[in-house]
Amino acid sequence: MFTNKFFKALNIRNQKELLSFSKTTGIPVPKLKMYNEESILPFNEDFKKIVKEIDITEIELKLKLGILDSSTIDLLAKYSSEINTIIKNSHPTEENSKQNNKSPIFQTDFGLLYQDDCLSLMENIPKNSVDLIFADPPFNLNKKYESKINDQLSKAEYLKWTETWVLNCIELLKEGGSFFVWNLPVWNTHISSILNKYLNFRQWIAVDIKYQLPIPNKLYPAHYSLLYYTKGKKPNTFNSQRLPMEICRHCGGDIKDYGGYKNKLNKNGLNLTDVWHDLSPVRHSKYKSRESNELPIKLLERVISMASSEGDLVFDPFGGSGTTFIVSEILKRRWIGCEIGPVDSIIKRFDDVDLHKKQILEIQKKKNVLFTEEMRSIRSKNEHWLPETINGK
Ligand SMILES: C[S@@+](CC[C@H](N)C(=O)[O-])C[C@H]1O[C@@H](n2cnc3c(N)ncnc32)[C@H](O)[C@@H]1O
Repeated sequence: MFTNKFFKALNIRNQKELLSFSKTTGIPVPKLKMYNEESILPFNEDFKKIVKEIDITEIELKLKLGILDSSTIDLLAKYSSEINTIIKNSHPTEENSKQNNKSPIFQTDFGLLYQDDCLSLMENIPKNSVDLIFADPPFNLNKKYESKINDQLSKAEYLKWTETWVLNCIELLKEGGSFFVWNLPVWNTHISSILNKYLNFRQWIAVDIKYQLPIPNKLYPAHYSLLYYTKGKKPNTFNSQRLPMEICRHCGGDIKDYGGYKNKLNKNGLNLTDVWHDLSPVRHSKYKSRESNELPIKLLERVISMASSEGDLVFDPFGGSGTTFIVSEILKRRWIGCEIGPVDSIIKRFDDVDLHKKQILEIQKKKNVLFTEEMRSIRSKNEHWLPETINGK
């Protein structure tokens, strides 16, 4: 707690100094702790009290806290050459000689799997070489991972680590390549603010999956966020994905009223929107590869089909159970995978490649059509319209 930027800026090094600062400024200890843990700028009156107490200017405090609003950025830009001289004199640039060779722990026709810390592995992957990056990092929720990583960092530590791997990923991405980040909305707001500086925002995809119980005094959290960015304005690959129309589970009838537009609906299905309702957590033991965190195959099938082509290179720094790798393999994308913890569940997944192929085939049968075979059969049985029965009407 005393190593966070806020207490450091205020020169608070221990509990005693915290109590004394609280007493002199009149700002309660829990509030000071909140500013420190959340890394946010103290509210108006508190801000004034702090600036007065530690005899610091507003701009200096903002800089110490790493809060760069546009007026601060303008000032930094104005004095950039002076700042550069100061930095050059105090931190002579070190030669980057970290590169060394790594050996994969597992290899397939299309992919290479490394058991490593992704930060270290990324130093060995050529820059501008990856077509698609999918990242599903730990959420810092104090989960127990097989890798025994610390999943309860302070907010500041988690965000610092996040920024490091995100920036490394950006370097690996080819121009026109796509970058997807799966996380809780609260973390993806921060990740977005990093990505916005380097890449082009395409979409914030809300994936309708409930992941916790309702919380008093808050809306019920019901979506994961999937960020979608590209390096440059236009992605090299965007294969549009279409979904079947929603119909009544019991009678096969329409749920929405398409009125006179039925004959205008695309026979290949409806446009995929940025709200994905058709994914559910992996529960079935036949498909589930390990205790937790495994993403649905359908999610990766969609992302990889949409944003890459056969032969492209896919990278996922946080392998987990290897969902990205098995889907890439089946869809004939080259892949580089990384996992810091045990990788046996990933390798084992490749023993079941036929099971996964079957699953992907089932998923593919149910996309890019207005009605699947089953939907067509229940609709004909109950005399609901089909594209061929309304043509020209
Ligand atoms: C949320 S899980 C990923 C699950 C994966 N998407 C799947 O479908 O199975 C995150 C994984 O990242 C791994 N991990 C955490 N820190 C890492 C690091 N620095 N380098 C590589 N892997 C890491 C964890 O051990 C964990 O297995």
